[in-house]
Amino acid sequence: MKYVENKVVLIGAGAVGIAYAYALVNQGIADELVLLDTNENRTRGEVTDLNHCEAWAPSPITVTHGGYEECRDAAIVVLCAGAAQKTGQTRLDMVGTNVRITQDIVSEVMASGFDGIFLVATNPVDILTYATWRHSGLPSAQVLGSGTSLDTARLRYNLAQYFEVATTNVHAMIIGEHGDSELPVWSAASIAGRSLAKRIAANPQIEADIEDIYVRTRDAAYDIIAAKGSTSYGIGMALARITRAILSNQKVTLPVSALLEGQYGQEGIYIGVPASIGRRGVREVVELDLDEQETQRFTASADTLRTVMREFWP
Ligand code: 2OP
Repeated sequence: MKYVENKVVLIGAGAVGIAYAYALVNQGIADELVLLDTNENRTRGEVTDLNHCEAWAPSPITVTHGGYEECRDAAIVVLCAGAAQKTGQTRLDMVGTNVRITQDIVSEVMASGFDGIFLVATNPVDILTYATWRHSGLPSAQVLGSGTSLDTARLRYNLAQYFEVATTNVHAMIIGEHGDSELPVWSAASIAGRSLAKRIAANPQIEADIEDIYVRTRDAAYDIIAAKGSTSYGIGMALARITRAILSNQKVTLPVSALLEGQYGQEGIYIGVPASIGRRGVREVVELDLDEQETQRFTASADTLRTVMREFWP
């Protein structure tokens, strides 16, 4: 293996990148974290600030500031660099700028001799994860995106609030594009051990509330961006969760952006689906038993991504 145990390189130390870095330090995930950003002065400040966490952190983590050569022996390179979504924009609106930025970054990372795992967070994340895979030439198992992990966390939180149960007792997932065409998998959802379908059958008037919860989940980023300019903590924690799954070889199933090669009737796209995650990345895409309506919505979501992808990879 060419990578150093538990070394992470973070490219893009803006609001999302720093929320992720803080989650790693705060939870004791990784032994070594290198921050790489074009704004060297601010990044140096972030590094010093993060190092001052060590006395109270659960385990020591060396945080430094470095260049692309640091990627050579990294276990994971996390991509958070690129133009951020502003009020009035969808994630897909940033595609032109961010495909170019991502390709440039991936070239530099690969020139270092990197052979670890790319974890992509820059939006539109499904398209940029695909761009990273295509441009890097790495096996698809070694390239994944944050996908619908954040949307799933938002959905679980919103359902937990509604049903007044612990978020950890909510089993529900968002799949598809990390964006406006995403969909909830209600057919597989259960709340505190009882299927959502049975809860609705017993109490049909809650169905409209459940639909409203999905809409609020899907549109959460718009609300947060309008209020504070960007989203950061939710995605930082989602990335930290995926990082832990990789570094600790957890083989846990998480909703990430993974390459489909026939699963869900789709070929050659990265999209949010549950996948088993371990030390070498995506171990297996899990194919859920979607009902007919969910299958149609998933196909429509995949088509949305494919239409955008055709502009770049005709
Ligand atoms: C989010 O969902 C903007 O994709 C980002 O928070």
